[in-house]
Amino acid sequence: MGSLEVDIAGLKMKNPVTTASGTYGSGKEYSDLIDINRLGAICVKTVTLKPMSGNPPPRLWETPSGMLNSIGLQNDGVEAFIDNDLPFLSKQDIPVIVSIAGTSIDDFSRLAKMLSAQSDIDALELNISCPNAKVGGMIFGSDEKLAAEVVSKTKMASTKPLIVKLTPNTGDISAIARACERAGADGLSLINTVYGMSVEVDTLKPRLGSIVGGLSGPAIKPIAVRMVWEVAKVVNIPIIGMGGILTAEDALEFIIAGASGVAVGTANFIDPQAPIKIIDGMNKFLEKHGVSSIQDLVGALKIDS
Ligand SMILES: Cc1cc2nc3c(=O)[nH]c(=O)nc-3n(C[C@H](O)[C@H](O)[C@H](O)COP(=O)(O)O)c2cc1C
Repeated sequence: MGSLEVDIAGLKMKNPVTTASGTYGSGKEYSDLIDINRLGAICVKTVTLKPMSGNPPPRLWETPSGMLNSIGLQNDGVEAFIDNDLPFLSKQDIPVIVSIAGTSIDDFSRLAKMLSAQSDIDALELNISCPNAKVGGMIFGSDEKLAAEVVSKTKMASTKPLIVKLTPNTGDISAIARACERAGADGLSLINTVYGMSVEVDTLKPRLGSIVGGLSGPAIKPIAVRMVWEVAKVVNIPIIGMGGILTAEDALEFIIAGASGVAVGTANFIDPQAPIKIIDGMNKFLEKHGVSSIQDLVGALKIDS
């Protein structure tokens, strides 16, 4: 049987599959439904310094092949995360990635310092890409200089590997990716949701309380695969690809395009077993094609000249 093991930004993962932040809570919510220790890693919902109540409802709207959300980083704040969620995560046998966001560079640095003191956290994911909240950090994720500044200052405050999560809602994602790498990012994850909106025609009202939200699910997969391919060509740090992954084949598309790992998001709402089925499907693919390691497929895209 081929090996699914990967090393992403220093995280030793038994397979390349992690969860997409915000779609898996802190794992506890899913632990009765699946054996979360089968995952390659777990990435928890974004935490902020202070508790946040999120955006006004409605906050979810299903679209053809996708979903709009405007949750707005609702969370209980970093102290509650450390007290209530981390003890559960510490007992699991998988790397723990904690996603952080803030309104200022100082917020990111303070979060990085507080979370670096926790030995059970393996990496931080810098969310500079949330389209749904003023504190989402998207301002940092769509400007090269600001992205570089937030990455380098957070890196100084952190002893954990830093994975920077990129937004597709920008002119040149490759330029932002390069700026993050130069500033010290240990890995990149992409993509966050794509700006979207829906209107209820009978009432003339927007479907979401915050009018605009983020589109996720299979509808965005081709955009995400294209962005992973473009970014992989210009950086040397590992990429975690995400956006619409439902099946092992979807996940393999990202890997062949250049991702070392993948994250499963919206699929968890459809089928909590999705990440496990994806891992099993990857194993079958390696066996069927006689591939000894998943790493041999990273960036293996064949382009006829
Ligand atoms: C309901 C919902 C909440 C999300 N919350 C967060 C979040 O807190 N932090 C974050 O970085 N991304 C968040 N995301 C974005 C996902 O992590 C992921 O980047 C995106 O949904 C694309 O993957 P998918 O199509 O597999 O869901 C959220 C997505 C959804 C659908």
